[in-house]
Amino acid sequence: MIFSSIALVAFISTAVQAHFQLQYPIPRGPFVQDSEPTFCDGYTNAVDNRTVFPLSNGVINMNSEHPLWSAGVIVSTYQNPINFSDFNSSSGYQLAVQFFQQSGEGDYCFPIDLATSNIAGVKDGANVTIQIVFDGGDGTLYQCADLTLSANVTTPTGTTSDCTNVTSSSSTATTTATSPSSTSSGSASKGVEVGSGVIAGVFSMLMLLSAV
Ligand SMILES: *[C@@H]1O[C@H](CO)[C@@H](O)[C@H](O)[C@H]1NC(C)=O
Ligand SMILES: *[C@@H]1O[C@H](CO)[C@@H](O)[C@H](O)[C@H]1NC(C)=O
Ligand SMILES: *[C@@H]1O[C@H](CO)[C@@H](O)[C@H](O)[C@H]1NC(C)=O
Ligand SMILES: *[C@@H]1O[C@H](CO)[C@@H](O)[C@H](O)[C@H]1NC(C)=O
Ligand SMILES: *[C@@H]1O[C@H](CO)[C@@H](O)[C@H](O)[C@H]1NC(C)=O
Ligand SMILES: *[C@@H]1O[C@H](CO)[C@@H](O)[C@H](O)[C@H]1NC(C)=O
Repeated sequence: MIFSSIALVAFISTAVQAHFQLQYPIPRGPFVQDSEPTFCDGYTNAVDNRTVFPLSNGVINMNSEHPLWSAGVIVSTYQNPINFSDFNSSSGYQLAVQFFQQSGEGDYCFPIDLATSNIAGVKDGANVTIQIVFDGGDGTLYQCADLTLSANVTTPTGTTSDCTNVTSSSSTATTTATSPSSTSSGSASKGVEVGSGVIAGVFSMLMLLSAV
């Protein structure tokens, strides 16, 4: 009885809160839903078993649980970045992927080319940390991965094979089929609200980053 209530509450909070899970490269630690609104999903220290990651033409694979979202990637060249300041230079965010908006739930892959990011210290053999900044319209979420950059590796096959870059129309169809409370007309009529929510979210994301 208690267990099923807890499960129900967990299910409801999963359903109403937009989250994402970094699939590749492997994040600092296992996904912790409640910590995702905080720096690096609550993991404040870099790991030693870093992913050897392509300096050029890398790919990030993440699962979005929200139909409309925005994301970007910031980079730290510190060995052990512990706060948001460590992801800034004197001229501001060290952005490796500019913030972009996307619709669709599911595994989504996007390119990251650190070699052309113009961030001081980004080079073959460097230890860096990337932080994915995600906003599904109800707050900013963060996950980090600690990397050693290499000019000699490419993205391993298999790490991006699940990417379907799904669109909201296909995920709406799935949601409609499995959830009686969610109809396609309902989500269609909310499109404008969700859109402005994401834009407001991007602003709050920028405010949050500037506040720390
Ligand atoms: C990169 O990190 C690894 C593991 O933390 C460490 O052993 C290595 O010395 C570091 N390399 C550089 C170039 O700092
Ligand atoms: C580092 O090691 C931990 C513990 O074995 C493992 O769970 C994690 O996936 C590893 N991380 C990477 C990036 O390989
Ligand atoms: C962030 O961490 C660095 C060490 O990596 C430290 O020098 C700096 O004071 C910290 N900044 C804030 C705002 O806590
Ligand atoms: C990072 O840079 C942004 C953009 O210039 C700035 O608004 C923010 O205050 C900086 N954050 C930190 C933690 O230094
Ligand atoms: C879609 O996913 C593929 C990997 O399957 C990736 O190479 C591509 O860049 C993605 N498309 C966009 C627009 O990000
Ligand atoms: C990539 O290859 C070059 C040339 O062999 C080598 O000097 C360099 O250390 C390699 N990079 C890494 C990260 O192993």
